[in-house]
Amino acid sequence: MAAYEYETHEYDVVVVGAGGAGLRATLGMAEQGLRTACVTKVFPTRSHTVAAQGGIAASLSNMGPDHWQWHMYDTVKGSDWLGDTDAMEYLAREAPKAVYELEHYGVPFSRTEEGKIYQRPFGGHTTEFGEGPAVQRTCAAADRTGHAILHTLYGQSLKNNAEFYIEYFAIDLIMSDDGQCQGVVCWKLDDGTMHVFNAKMVVLATGGYGRAYFSATSAHTCTGDGGGMVARAGLALQDMEFVQFHPTGIYGSGCLITEGARGEGGYLTNSEGERFMERYAPQYKDLAPRDYVSRSMTMEIREGRGHGDGGDHIHLNLSHLPSEALAERLPGISESARVFAGVDVTREPIPVLPTVHYNMGGIPTNYWGEVLNPTADNPTGVVPGLMAVGEAGCASVHGANRLGSNSLIDLVVFGRAAAIRAGKVVDAEASNPVLNQTSVDAAFDRFDAVRNASGSVPTADLRLEMQKTMQEDAAVFRTAKTMAEGVEKMTAIAAKMDDIKVSDRSLVWNSDLMETLELSNLMPSALATIVGAEARKESRGAHAHEDFSERDDENWRVHTVSRVEGNKVDLSYRPVIVDPLSTEAEGGISLKKIAPKARTF
Ligand code: FUM
Repeated sequence: MAAYEYETHEYDVVVVGAGGAGLRATLGMAEQGLRTACVTKVFPTRSHTVAAQGGIAASLSNMGPDHWQWHMYDTVKGSDWLGDTDAMEYLAREAPKAVYELEHYGVPFSRTEEGKIYQRPFGGHTTEFGEGPAVQRTCAAADRTGHAILHTLYGQSLKNNAEFYIEYFAIDLIMSDDGQCQGVVCWKLDDGTMHVFNAKMVVLATGGYGRAYFSATSAHTCTGDGGGMVARAGLALQDMEFVQFHPTGIYGSGCLITEGARGEGGYLTNSEGERFMERYAPQYKDLAPRDYVSRSMTMEIREGRGHGDGGDHIHLNLSHLPSEALAERLPGISESARVFAGVDVTREPIPVLPTVHYNMGGIPTNYWGEVLNPTADNPTGVVPGLMAVGEAGCASVHGANRLGSNSLIDLVVFGRAAAIRAGKVVDAEASNPVLNQTSVDAAFDRFDAVRNASGSVPTADLRLEMQKTMQEDAAVFRTAKTMAEGVEKMTAIAAKMDDIKVSDRSLVWNSDLMETLELSNLMPSALATIVGAEARKESRGAHAHEDFSERDDENWRVHTVSRVEGNKVDLSYRPVIVDPLSTEAEGGISLKKIAPKARTF
């Protein structure tokens, strides 16, 4: 057994991660007087939410008529009918409240002439249940909305006495023998000390695993740490095959150019100067959902109408927009285009390419953020003491494809929901659970084994191999052949974790060790992605299977549940929740309205 001294900390709630979801949960918990710690591997305002640009969806009707029912309908259709209907209703209904709360906390939203929150159009957001024109539903703080939200939530959390443990790396969950989560074991990066957090509720808000791919808009810190911990605890991941490619990553660097650029009037062209989205999505054109636009761009490139010497990218045109509008509404991406593409957006188009952006899948939860441990007998059974929110979780509101600006609203609605639920199920007067020492020791043993790993494969080499494989074999379009090859390659790659080589044995700022722990978190998610994709014999949302090009609701309107052990993935399926929270008579949306149909734009 590895002998590490550690300090024990007791809280009612420990939130792991300080992005938008983690901070909104932390704030909500602390506001209710729960003793709340937020443990984060980066400084809170450096969390990846800081990079969210275009905005946050809520049917405020500031720029024209809108209704939460329209927002819900768009989300259901956007998800290609794989989202859980109760959660999608909760998201759309609660969104306006959650945004007004943000406003009152102090988020500096852009304003209309009348002083209302400014809202812009985003892909897939429509009026009249998909029959009317595009709606302006996305509330924006210029093109730095995530930045504005993150700073405000951090300040408010401090004001409410939440305690922050900054630059602490979460190693593993502490689980009781009967399956209750009791806390988390952490390594403090800057002084090498070890810490055991004992809590009545652990909330995983660790973000996505975009870095399983070679080119992603995600920060290098997006390594699926929550998913890794959950998989090692024998718990499930869900719908991992659905990986979103954002249409407009800057060609080469992958840096995000917000969909807000198209919301403000930008458009895509091929090498013939054609606005090709008019052909693929005659009604909504460049404002069709992301899976649609990314596929259309890929088809243009494949058919020889890409730009550049290699014919391998598309142009995003903004130069027709007034320069004042670019300066006021899109200052951040104007700068990104200059820095990362050498482009002056007032004169030239930006070279762009679909780039990995978001994981629709994650740790399965209900709409209160409680983690599910789905079994055949009980598909919605809850893991006591454990929640997951934000991109780490899968509520599932995005199903097979997320609408732009539904991510920021997911973070705050479900961060807030987790806090509301914790206020009910966490007894602040009760004593903390007695820690299962075997589970604590197992976490230290794993840490020690990674720290002393003396195999032959350097972490960076194995990571690159994984990223290249995922990029190639779990791409925008997938075939039976590429996915079968991907499964074979990823199975072999994951097995190499047993032969990993860590050169630096120190405990203080050991980035070699940290990156290896991160790789051990990425690997189960990557593996579950490719195995789940290979198994799903249909096309739905972001999963475009060229050998099964139609959606198959009869056989595949189900969530994929994957359990990963080493390099093996066990797949099962659980039903999609099709019933909304409220009936039509109660003011909800009718089942007929949201019944599956062909998804055109
Ligand atoms: O395009 C964007 O601004 C990204 C927003 C999102 O992913 O929701």
